[in-house]
Amino acid sequence: MSRPPEDYDLEIKQLAKQIRILRKQLERSEKDRAKLEDTNRIKESLLKRVICELQDSQSVLERKSLDLEQAVTKLTTMQSELVEAEKMAALGGLVAGVAHEINTPVGISITMASTLMDETQLLLKALEAGPLRRSLLNHYLQVAEESASLILSNLNRAGELVQSFKQVAVDQVASERRRFAVKPYLEEIAVSLSPQLKYTAHRLTVTGNDTIVLNNYPGAFAQVVTNLVTNSLTHAYPPQAQGHLQFDVQQCGDQVVVQYSDDGCGIPEAVLSRVFDPFFTTARDRGGTGLGLHIAYNLVTQKMQGQIDVRSQVGEGTQFILTIPLYLTGFSSSQDPEN
Ligand SMILES: Nc1ncnc2c1ncn2[C@@H]1O[C@H](COP(=O)(O)OP(=O)(O)OP(=O)(O)O)[C@@H](O)[C@H]1O
Ligand SMILES: [Mg+2]
Repeated sequence: MSRPPEDYDLEIKQLAKQIRILRKQLERSEKDRAKLEDTNRIKESLLKRVICELQDSQSVLERKSLDLEQAVTKLTTMQSELVEAEKMAALGGLVAGVAHEINTPVGISITMASTLMDETQLLLKALEAGPLRRSLLNHYLQVAEESASLILSNLNRAGELVQSFKQVAVDQVASERRRFAVKPYLEEIAVSLSPQLKYTAHRLTVTGNDTIVLNNYPGAFAQVVTNLVTNSLTHAYPPQAQGHLQFDVQQCGDQVVVQYSDDGCGIPEAVLSRVFDPFFTTARDRGGTGLGLHIAYNLVTQKMQGQIDVRSQVGEGTQFILTIPLYLTGFSSSQDPEN
């Protein structure tokens, strides 16, 4: 049975309507897609900008960390240069002091030797001129004995100074590890410091156990000790004071304890907590750099594997306690030239 034509009309109308709806939907989703694309484009360019900025700040960071690395390297070099400079300054002071000290006995010896020569020439002339008078010979013998004995004692003094200075100076420059007896070595350092003490009324004594031997760095030890004594002379006393500076050496288990003390003005609490800080000084106006105790601290704790402590009471004096192990760790006995 065939359908009536109105049926077809209706169906066509409905189809046309659906096509319109579909077209509208298509248009709408086309618009949505375009909008989405726009947002995506915006987001993409934003993302690109963020990535660019990130890359920029990454390269800035890289540059900064490179700068920092360079600064750290520079600081490390500067620190070791400063340590070296301080070592050389201490050595320079020592050389100047010892040179000055040696000058006196050598000067006396030269004067005595030239007196002896003059007197010998006079004696020779008198001998050529005729028979020698007994009184002249006696006079000559007296002068000769006096000058010879003065020359001998003065040259001995100069020799002693050179000897102690040589050991201390060589140790400071060579900075090598070796075995050394602590108390006798302190006594040698005291002799090489005597030029600095000579024009003061202070006395420096060394007491304690004579037999303790350290296998460590005598150069570092000498530098620390020199710094402590120099500090007492610079900071602890008013002019003309009669101070007593003392080193005492004792063994405590497998460590040696060197206690250094002065009976000077002492260090107030606020200063005491900072004395080991680099560049901390209360004597900048007198040429202090504030490196002496910082370097001493580093030498004791790093090079000598020990400890340095300070105690002080204002008006009573200051003590530095060095605790140093008898044997350094990290060295086998086969590495040790003297074991
Ligand atoms: N024995 C002492 N008595 C009193 N004060 C001291 C003594 N030793 C150190 N000080 C104080 O500690 C500070 C730091 O000492 P440090 O040796 O580091 O520097 P400095 O002696 O001032 O300068 P530098 O040693 O570099 O010439 C000194 O400025 C001083 O105030
Ligand atoms: Mg100092």
